[in-house]
Amino acid sequence: MDLIPAPRRFRALPEPAFTLGPDTGVRVGPGTGRAARRLRAELGAATGFDLDPASDGRIELALDPALGAEAYRLESGPDGIRLTGGAEAGLGHALQTLRQLLGPAALRRAPLPGTRWEVPAVRIEDAPRFGWRGALLDVSRHFLPKADVLRFLDQLAAHKLNVLHLHLTDDQGWRIEIRRHPRLTEVGAWRERSMVGFRAADRRDDRPHGGYYTQDDLREIVAYAAERQIAVVPEIDLPGHAQAAIAAYPELGNTDVVDTAALGVWTDWGVNPNVLNVSDATLCFVEEVLEEVLEIFPSTFVHLGGDECPKDQWKASPAAQARIKELGLADEDELQSWFIRHFDRWLAERGRRLIGWDEILEGGLAIAAEPKAAPVPRETSDKRPRNEGAPERGTSAPDREQPEVRPRSRAAVSSWRGYAGGVAAAKAGHDVVMCPEQHVYLDHRQAAGEDEPIPVGYVRTLEDVYRFEPLPPELTALDDGGAAAAHVIGVQANLWTEFMDDARDVDYRAFPRLAAFAEVAWSDLPRDPAARDWAGFERRAAAHYARLDALGVEYRHPAGPRPWQRRPGVLGRPIDARPE
Ligand code: ACM
Repeated sequence: MDLIPAPRRFRALPEPAFTLGPDTGVRVGPGTGRAARRLRAELGAATGFDLDPASDGRIELALDPALGAEAYRLESGPDGIRLTGGAEAGLGHALQTLRQLLGPAALRRAPLPGTRWEVPAVRIEDAPRFGWRGALLDVSRHFLPKADVLRFLDQLAAHKLNVLHLHLTDDQGWRIEIRRHPRLTEVGAWRERSMVGFRAADRRDDRPHGGYYTQDDLREIVAYAAERQIAVVPEIDLPGHAQAAIAAYPELGNTDVVDTAALGVWTDWGVNPNVLNVSDATLCFVEEVLEEVLEIFPSTFVHLGGDECPKDQWKASPAAQARIKELGLADEDELQSWFIRHFDRWLAERGRRLIGWDEILEGGLAIAAEPKAAPVPRETSDKRPRNEGAPERGTSAPDREQPEVRPRSRAAVSSWRGYAGGVAAAKAGHDVVMCPEQHVYLDHRQAAGEDEPIPVGYVRTLEDVYRFEPLPPELTALDDGGAAAAHVIGVQANLWTEFMDDARDVDYRAFPRLAAFAEVAWSDLPRDPAARDWAGFERRAAAHYARLDALGVEYRHPAGPRPWQRRPGVLGRPIDARPE
């Protein structure tokens, strides 16, 4: 049936198919109301049928708590279809499988005349390999309007992916409304122009670029994602990648080193020297931002970046050096660790977990039995009167309420600079999401040819992504009963958008590779990449293109980019070595 991602167990039954028709009803089992509503909305739109619960139900929805929350069974035969989920999430995945069984037209938003809606007789038992099956969307470098984010969530759900990592802030744009600090979007949400291609291209478009999501927009995105069993993990990138915030509030930068008041939102791509300072006022400011972030995003994990923070300004800054001395730290790496751990603890106190890029391991992440830090006074960044009697937040909680030692960190690591950071973190007992740039950075070019638009990074073909194995031998060969490997909670593909101006560009770089990635994340593939049935995937991918067409996804065709998908003459930054 060419299903993608491939289910764990699939049996075609020697029975006639079931045909959906105008009289088909949906029988809504206990606890399945929301899943049934989605099924009726999606299949109802595609088929034009009411799928009325009052009709004679031939599609049954049920829960079976003996299954894992995301697991499901799909049983179909001449008498009807039964979808059973471990929880609502499993039913959502079953719905996606049912759409694929019905054929590409089931992925359209309105009926095609004359379509026959047949479901072959099958029995499918399915469950995911990894609990975190993510995609990062960088909405900072190029803003994606809300409607495009909702559309991207539909694409993730169709591939049984369940985490949208939303990279909301960076040097080139701040995209989340923060009520208490409105200049973050008034100033930080747009830039005067953009680089076209990489630095060597020396091209600018001289066109303002910007946009941001209101808090209500983000609440809508979060709710829309939740209906599709997707968690939205927000990223506020700190203490580097922060020039947009510094442009809005110059006091956040290293004012004793550079004239931060002269900085605008960055109009270049690359790694930026302008990083946050480490004052109490800046810690308070960030806490205030995060308070609003936590109100919007219910996800357990909150991503605080931590990547690519050049230390030059901290080295030159008397204030940063005084902080290092005061805290008894060895160097600037330890200063960054201290900064990140402050928020690790702050989030933990609120029942959340920090996740950061693998640089957060530098200078130490383990917080076991560490002496408590002095509380940060909270008067500097907010001059407005505080609510008398309101509980103090953050580190200003009274000393006597603080434990004498910090709890062990529950921070997790996104391993992007290869596998090494993830291996080290997993061995140290931290959870890990594997997203090595050499394998699953989908902004990287998908073929070596001259025609690839703005070619950056490694060549990562559809086959390369299909053969990506998240668990490296450094973890699987350990004699630890699988303990370290079990810390790899998931896998993620990242879409950085320096070279993607809009949703059409995102479609092109994401697909079809995100379909191969989805199979790596979900299916029980051979762990040896060489043993994977690439020819079989390629055959199924041919059927999958028709689904992507129905969804309106402008994927890269196997024959290469269409003329309008090329960017002739715009230089990228290819890496010519094969990834290790
Ligand atoms: C990253 O790619 N800088 C996480």
